[in-house]
Amino acid sequence: MALDISQAANAASSDTLVFAAKDAKDLKGCDVIVITAGLPRKHGMSRDDLLLTNAKIMKIVVKEIEEQAPNAIIVVVSNPLDVMVYTALKVSNFPKNQIVGMAGILDSARMSHFILEKLGYGAGQIDASVMGGHGDDMVPLPNFSTVAGVPLDAVLSKEDIKDIVEKTKNGGAQIVKYLETGSAYYAPAHSTSLMVEAILYDKKEVYPCAVLLEGEYGYENIVSGVPIMLGSSGVEKIIELKLTAEQKKLFKKSVSSVKELVDTLNKNNFFE
Ligand code: 2OP
Repeated sequence: MALDISQAANAASSDTLVFAAKDAKDLKGCDVIVITAGLPRKHGMSRDDLLLTNAKIMKIVVKEIEEQAPNAIIVVVSNPLDVMVYTALKVSNFPKNQIVGMAGILDSARMSHFILEKLGYGAGQIDASVMGGHGDDMVPLPNFSTVAGVPLDAVLSKEDIKDIVEKTKNGGAQIVKYLETGSAYYAPAHSTSLMVEAILYDKKEVYPCAVLLEGEYGYENIVSGVPIMLGSSGVEKIIELKLTAEQKKLFKKSVSSVKELVDTLNKNNFFE
């Protein structure tokens, strides 16, 4: 795979060097490390079904990274995403700004796709917004989503927006259903690349990402997807949106779903 990608990079006259790491020592000095280690879900599984297996893998991987690249910014992609970010933070001494989860960009991209599907116009001009956990309880935010700056409710009916919200929540499962033995690749990969570039080039861009909340949105010691500013130090700012009462309720439900998974790990003495 690395050889094939490296040859593709040369075909594109890119100066990117690609090689497969032989062991953890190859991580030494890395600026950014993306963790996709873990099982993907299969059709009929929820992301949560991967919890214990992927948490064990996450623990091993993060400890290795801590030894070889303690200053790296870690982008977590493994599922169940939010609790994998939480696990990475809790099993290591990495500060919370150095570990961030990729989910909101992917879910927002899916929401944009479903908006475009409904509208039939505005391609490339749709800016959708999703927060909360990367799961069935994610919180698409139609009132923060626009088409070239035009609010969604000015171009779509309530019913259409409701349909888009449901399709967004089910976006990952829909692809798993088609693929049967794996989950999406391209949209998660491109979403991850946006985060890596924002960190590597210190772009200080705003994206919805999974981060540890310590008081923001009224929550402590839990990971969820919220708008942040991403730069060379990783999570450089957490942005607090003014949510409606309904959105606060949905966000609370999403956070409690992640808390339940953390509780399962605690019940298994995972962090001891
Ligand atoms: C997805 O939603 C893999 O969780 C990822 O496709």
